[in-house]
Amino acid sequence: MLPLPLLLAVAAFANAQLTPSPTFTPPPADAGTTPAPEQTVPNEQWSNLLGDLLCFYEAQRSGELPDSNRVTWRNSSGLHDGEDAGLDLTGGYYDAGDYIKASYPLSWVLTSVCWGAAVFGQGYDLANQTAYLDEMLRWGLDWLIKAHPDNSTFYVQVGDDAIDNNYWGGDQDIPTPRPSYQVNDTNPGTDATAQASAAFSSCSFLYAGGVLNSTSDATAPTGIRNQTYADTLLQHAVGLWGLSVNASGVNRSQDAVPEVGDAYPSSGYGDDLTLAALFLALATSSPSTYQQALLYYSKYKLSGSNAVLNWDSKVPAIYTLLTELALARPSWGGSANLTGWRSEAERWMDGVAAGGKGGAYMTDGGLLYYPGDSDSASLNPALNAAMALTHYAPIASTSDKANAYLDFATSQVNYTLGDNPMSAVYVVGINPNSPDRVHSGMASGGDNINGINTDPDGPDLHVLYGAVVGGPDKDDKFWNIRSDYIQSEPALDYVAPMLTLAAFAVMNNAHDPYFTALQAGAYSAPGGHPCDDSWACHSGLSEGGKIALGVVISIVGTAFVLCIAWFVWRMRRR
Ligand SMILES: *[C@@H]1O[C@H](CO)[C@@H](O)[C@H](O)[C@H]1NC(C)=O
Ligand SMILES: *[C@@H]1O[C@H](CO)[C@@H](O)[C@H](O)[C@H]1NC(C)=O
Ligand SMILES: *[C@@H]1O[C@H](CO)[C@@H](O)[C@H](O)[C@H]1NC(C)=O
Ligand SMILES: *[C@@H]1O[C@H](CO)[C@@H](O)[C@H](O)[C@H]1NC(C)=O
Ligand SMILES: *[C@@H]1O[C@H](CO)[C@@H](O)[C@H](O)[C@H]1NC(C)=O
Ligand SMILES: *[C@@H]1O[C@H](CO)[C@@H](O)[C@H](O)[C@H]1NC(C)=O
Ligand SMILES: *[C@@H]1O[C@H](CO)[C@@H](O)[C@H](O)[C@H]1NC(C)=O
Ligand SMILES: *[C@@H]1O[C@H](CO)[C@@H](O)[C@H](O)[C@H]1NC(C)=O
Ligand SMILES: *[C@@H]1O[C@H](CO)[C@@H](O)[C@H](O)[C@H]1NC(C)=O
Ligand SMILES: *[C@@H]1O[C@H](CO)[C@@H](O)[C@H](O)[C@H]1NC(C)=O
Repeated sequence: MLPLPLLLAVAAFANAQLTPSPTFTPPPADAGTTPAPEQTVPNEQWSNLLGDLLCFYEAQRSGELPDSNRVTWRNSSGLHDGEDAGLDLTGGYYDAGDYIKASYPLSWVLTSVCWGAAVFGQGYDLANQTAYLDEMLRWGLDWLIKAHPDNSTFYVQVGDDAIDNNYWGGDQDIPTPRPSYQVNDTNPGTDATAQASAAFSSCSFLYAGGVLNSTSDATAPTGIRNQTYADTLLQHAVGLWGLSVNASGVNRSQDAVPEVGDAYPSSGYGDDLTLAALFLALATSSPSTYQQALLYYSKYKLSGSNAVLNWDSKVPAIYTLLTELALARPSWGGSANLTGWRSEAERWMDGVAAGGKGGAYMTDGGLLYYPGDSDSASLNPALNAAMALTHYAPIASTSDKANAYLDFATSQVNYTLGDNPMSAVYVVGINPNSPDRVHSGMASGGDNINGINTDPDGPDLHVLYGAVVGGPDKDDKFWNIRSDYIQSEPALDYVAPMLTLAAFAVMNNAHDPYFTALQAGAYSAPGGHPCDDSWACHSGLSEGGKIALGVVISIVGTAFVLCIAWFVWRMRRR
């Protein structure tokens, strides 16, 4: 038996499979104002961006932190998670600016990142980030494994918004109790179990050394292959698939566990089941599971949609993956329908690249905007769309379409990186014009829930490198106000599409990302206050009335309004 400290050290390092070489720490924001020394592939600025994005996940870690932890201001936390259920549910990631751990959005994050790495893996290699990718994935997957203790049970959330939302502060006083919520075979949460199965399948495929070879230049990241781990992941994928299709019925997680609906009320499970079947088919090389996916596709009427792509809505990813599979797995029969899958995918892609369809439109400043979804986090739908377009462009039916898709995807990445009316760079820490008052209790350094904006009265104590925030409003305005969770909160799923987009850019862009053109001072906050769900702007007053109200609020009522805003935050955040 090893002495306890040594045992802990071993446990703390068990997570890492590769050793980062060289190690990476995010450079200061000022470094983002100068061109890379060489305008070649890989461009150092794109590599740094990819490194920062991965570092964000490290800052969101829950559980016992290993010695290799780069985020020096973070502490081990959540060390009793799962005790109420007699289980070890420590580890995993805090979902956003608070301390909830949520399985459903996390599973989509892991799915999209493993899917992206199975095509654009070379980007991680060129940036020397593959070891950090491995750590990022394992920290999430190892926790999902704990959340799936047997084949009839899956834990969908640890922590309760009603308790968590009354707390603002660091990681040492996280409020308790932190209840563990499960779905199971008598109370199914089909969306969550199917999406988790997809995460395990897509990542099992990646760890088995799989390449989604829809094009000849697709590659997996070097050294990520580990058959032992791939096998473990596959067991959970298969087990969760069985739970999804063989439970007493189908339902949404919030039907089984209403608390889940506070932050992540899902709209259905047909897309999750289809996506899970497709990735399971890929991981197990199973044409019959692929056929099952097609049955779900038709049962849940997924054809013909112009839907948004996000944590809740995956139909556009399904169109993309079906076309990729028609090329990468021709013997499964999908290639006979390549024209069919292409026309389905390209209807969606054309709609997006033309500036939105099905209610979506372009803001004046050039952001793809889906009323409803974008109102609570504007960058996320646009970046997920860009991610789908980037997967799809190389397999488009014509080179004109391929160019149009890539151009549109690039425009959304450019917007996010500063090519917008505010000259705001919406990735924290990468440029002096990045948000520096982020809605993150742990990064802010403050602990006064009634003074989120004034404590500290200035930039956050800690820079949450690589965090993508919610983003501007529909008028392209961004206020950089800490209490505004709609604009200023980061989340695991906001950052995820940027990983795939940055990996692609590292592989393909010799020139600098847009932000290197922006010097300190390019961004300045607009006057007044935002009028989104986090602010009391629902009075139906005229524009003038709203402005006047804003002035009054800013002078006398900030603390009061913050209390109200705080009370409804999260309840309304999605
Ligand atoms: C492969 O993954 C397993 C499970 O995480 C781990 O124990 C093992 O050390 C890894 N093997 C290598 C060669 O990294
Ligand atoms: C990656 O590592 C190699 C070898 O240490 C080094 O030459 C190269 O500059 C690094 N590239 C980046 C983008 O960090
Ligand atoms: C980590 O712990 C230290 C020492 O207790 C504390 O000062 C710091 O604020 C903690 N970090 C966070 C993010 O809460
Ligand atoms: C199944 O899940 C429901 C909802 O979380 C819970 O109330 C019930 O106790 C669970 N069943 C078992 C056997 O744990
Ligand atoms: C769950 O099901 C999978 C796939 O059939 C199996 O490999 C695994 O051993 C099962 N897990 C448990 C805890 O029974
Ligand atoms: C569902 O249950 C049936 C009957 O027990 C079994 O034959 C089948 O393999 C199960 N399906 C999955 C996907 O686990
Ligand atoms: C789905 O959830 C609703 C609401 O909680 C419940 O009435 C119904 O029985 C559930 N269906 C299944 C199959 O569990
Ligand atoms: C991808 O690999 C599969 C299996 O080896 C092969 O049948 C298929 O033709 C390949 N597709 C492409 C586009 O290279
Ligand atoms: C062929 O693709 C179309 C989408 O364009 C789809 O609706 C249809 O189900 C597919 N047919 C088969 C046989 O897979
Ligand atoms: C994106 O920005 C780069 C500069 O960083 C520029 O060269 C390129 O033309 C822009 N592309 C689009 C589509 O806006």
